Amino acid sequence: MTDWTAFDVAAARDADARIVDQFAADPDRLARMTVEAAGLYLDLSKQSWTEAAFETCLDLARSAGVEAARARLFGGEAINFTEGRAVLHPALRAATGADFHALGEAVSAGVDAVRADMAAFATAVRSGAETGATGKPFKAIVHIGIGGSDLGPRVVWDGLRPVDPQIDLRFVANIDPRDMAEALTGLAPETTLVVVVSKTFTTQETLANAEAARAWLAAGLPEAGRDRHFIGVTAAPDKAKAFGCARTFAFRDWVGGRYSLWSAVSLSCVIALGPDVFDAMLAGAAAMDDHFVSAPLEKNAPVLMALAQIWNVDGLNRPARTVAPYAHALRRLPSFLQQLEMESNGKRVHRDGSPVTRQTCPVVFGEPGTNGQHAFFQQIHQGPQVVPAEFVIVAKTHADAPESPLWSNALAQGQALMLGKTTEEARAELLASGADAAEADRLATHKTFPGNRPSTAIAMERLTPGTLGALLALYEHKTFVEGVIWDINSFDQWGVELGKVLARAILKDVSAGGPSATLDPSTASLLTRLM
Ligand code: F6P
Repeated sequence: MTDWTAFDVAAARDADARIVDQFAADPDRLARMTVEAAGLYLDLSKQSWTEAAFETCLDLARSAGVEAARARLFGGEAINFTEGRAVLHPALRAATGADFHALGEAVSAGVDAVRADMAAFATAVRSGAETGATGKPFKAIVHIGIGGSDLGPRVVWDGLRPVDPQIDLRFVANIDPRDMAEALTGLAPETTLVVVVSKTFTTQETLANAEAARAWLAAGLPEAGRDRHFIGVTAAPDKAKAFGCARTFAFRDWVGGRYSLWSAVSLSCVIALGPDVFDAMLAGAAAMDDHFVSAPLEKNAPVLMALAQIWNVDGLNRPARTVAPYAHALRRLPSFLQQLEMESNGKRVHRDGSPVTRQTCPVVFGEPGTNGQHAFFQQIHQGPQVVPAEFVIVAKTHADAPESPLWSNALAQGQALMLGKTTEEARAELLASGADAAEADRLATHKTFPGNRPSTAIAMERLTPGTLGALLALYEHKTFVEGVIWDINSFDQWGVELGKVLARAILKDVSAGGPSATLDPSTASLLTRLM
């Protein structure tokens, strides 16, 4: 288990250190706390750590055995031990001909084969060689899936889609029929491909939506050739076939749902973006894998990101973090990260089953910049709780518009959070703007910013397939490193199971005409009211 003794001493010692002072105390701070990796530039110098605390955090990573754990991940050991599985998403983005093993079994040839199948299918759909039941080319895809079978492909599509795409890709996740109704609006069954994505092919929402989409296809298409419109993507091909997917694309159980966007789970994106774009994204992620495996811990981007979070959460008691992508195309990143980080590391027991005695995953939330600035950033600047911020900044987001108004806001936010404004400064500004002394005294505290609020900047020149792949892989490895240091299993998700079971029981009560006698009074009353 991780030894936190020195970390706790450093946290108690440095809790009140001011970030601005650290730049003067350590002239090398910027160089020490910035990293370039796979097309991304990371600046962690506006984090709350002193130079000494930074070194202590690196020692924490060493003592927790991050390097050995990393070797176990890449070596395909059963690090998801509650499910007896390897965790080998890096194998999905390695260059063709790699040699990964999951629990000793060689898996790379299988990965390459599925990738080639996807590319061939995508090319055929895009060229019109693959048609629907009536011989017309596909113009739209409805991607059905939830959680990891939805959020990753959505980030990829939003991140890389042309403004006016050849193929219209729509996503349906929610079991609320409204989601499907909106997605199908304006689409014609003859030119629509439905891609049902579910690792297990047992997920209630996805199967319900797949049934609805199938009925929609059946109402608009002849029976012959209709199955060409209904594709399954799964790690359980038998179940998908039994459900009625004649054609399936598979991935293996060593691909965790929230780590699956590199697999056939992104088939819809491979088709809609083209296989070359998808390959370039895989290459960007592979470049981040190489960096993660080879860079020393003190210059290792995922490790430093993880340590900054742990310093904030466990050292300085800051149990939330906001992520603000300053790029419209990255607007889904916060939702993706919520699943990646909170489903991975929202855990309450250590690997040996003993209760955790410290914090694990913080609450992660966010909105794209600049929108978030006009919503919850008030609290980040002046609320009593310190919420560390992460700015993902893209220099050139869109060819036709000047982007500096966008990214200058990101820089300004980081600056404002760190520098703040004293009451004296606020008072002087008020006086300078014509307020009298009484008015300046009355308003000065309202216009005071405490400052000393930490942030990380992740900057890139453009959001390309490569930088998007690198960014998502960065967050995956960061999440992994945190799990190693917290000594938890980042790769299971038992916490989502209980609700699923109880939802089934409630549906049974609905079918039986009312709440069962054992239901608690509040739930029983809600059930009766909603029926
Ligand atoms: O509810 C959580 C979860 O199990 C996620 O981990 C997973 O990504 C999602 O459901 C969807 O699961 P599936 O791909 O099996 O439909």
